[in-house]
Amino acid sequence: MVNRRDFIGSGLTALGVAATLDPRTLLHRPFGSAAPKKILILGGTGFVGPHDVRYALERGHEVTIFNRGRSGAGMFGKEVEQLAGDRGSDLSALKGRKWDAVIDESASLSSAPEWVKLSAEMLKDSTDQYLFISTRSVYFDTSRVPMTAAAPVLTLENSPLPEGRPLPYGHAKAYAEKAAHAAMPGRVTVVRPGLIVGPGDDTDRFTYWPVRIARGGEVLAPGDGTDHVQIIDVRDLVEFCVTLVENRTYGVFNGVGPDGGQPFKQFVERIHRGVGSNATYTWVDADFLRANGANPYGRELPVFQVMKGRTAGFARFDMSPEIKAGLKYRPTEVTARETLEWFRTLPAERQAGLKTGFTAERERELLGKWKAR
Ligand SMILES: NC(=O)c1ccc[n+]([C@@H]2O[C@H](COP(=O)([O-])OP(=O)(O)OC[C@H]3O[C@@H](n4cnc5c(N)ncnc54)[C@H](OP(=O)(O)O)[C@@H]3O)[C@@H](O)[C@H]2O)c1
Repeated sequence: MVNRRDFIGSGLTALGVAATLDPRTLLHRPFGSAAPKKILILGGTGFVGPHDVRYALERGHEVTIFNRGRSGAGMFGKEVEQLAGDRGSDLSALKGRKWDAVIDESASLSSAPEWVKLSAEMLKDSTDQYLFISTRSVYFDTSRVPMTAAAPVLTLENSPLPEGRPLPYGHAKAYAEKAAHAAMPGRVTVVRPGLIVGPGDDTDRFTYWPVRIARGGEVLAPGDGTDHVQIIDVRDLVEFCVTLVENRTYGVFNGVGPDGGQPFKQFVERIHRGVGSNATYTWVDADFLRANGANPYGRELPVFQVMKGRTAGFARFDMSPEIKAGLKYRPTEVTARETLEWFRTLPAERQAGLKTGFTAERERELLGKWKAR
């Protein structure tokens, strides 16, 4: 028999997390203080899923996961029921079963509307609540300040696509939300996260910053320090989702960082404090960076966005409805430190090849050009 603590250890070992996180931080909320629920997670073995499973178990809930059994085979012990199938073609393992809530986190391709329609229609009489993990990318734009869940979302009318083109990410998620509402009116919860970061995030989009700042020396910092950032720690996101299930809260919520975002200068300072560093910062104008091929939110500048025009509210979300519904945040210092600790458990070759951010040579080249202008 695998006990809960063993599971948490083994699941996170598969993630590469256990070696670095103090178990006391994993157990910072009491076990099972809500009425236990039966939760079905569609997905569960990518980045967000294992955190979700871990936290739901920690809270005393019964967890079933449904996926193809490819991405994280063997990740969980016997405490998690594992059902095999395919979102597009085989949901038979879900037939005739009942759950208090479904958390759908695996519909993100252009097929998302169809996948959500199939699963929500099949499960509508087998569950009370369908929580769909959507995305901030559903918004038509992020020009409002502050942004709220009431802002218009993408449609084929307001943002037409060329004939025959598969739905891009934002459209697909927007239509997937509609499919969930249509199948289970009044019993859907939508959470729209921005950039999800933390231990286990294989994209390096946030990880670049703690890694780069910890390395020290002169760091190229984008903009003038006033552009906002509103990332969310994966653990804050899953704790929010499980809270919404525990309280059976329906509605549409955003899933981004603390209220109104934090200016990039503060973001950098908090990471600096979190990881410890001798770094100094040279702030480089965003237009200069763009003119030299480094685009905001592009591969070299993950996390950074300019707060004007269509993106004026990109990281200026008013999060008071979500905070009222139970969203809580870890300090950026903690997210930075624990992400770096996790990253340092990865194989040396992986650590040497950050997937995003400036290479050392490129950063030197841009700093040289900036100073010589
Ligand atoms: N990362 C971000 O910054 C970000 C931002 C906003 C929103 N989001 C959203 O967050 C959600 C979480 O993503 P995640 O990848 O971390 O979730 P996850 O649930 O941890 O992993 C994805 C799961 O989908 C399963 N899957 C893939 N294809 C499948 C299929 N055809 N049939 C059944 N299962 C299938 C995978 O298992 P198998 O491969 O074994 O099937 C895996 O378990 C996504 O919906 C994403 O759009 C992410």
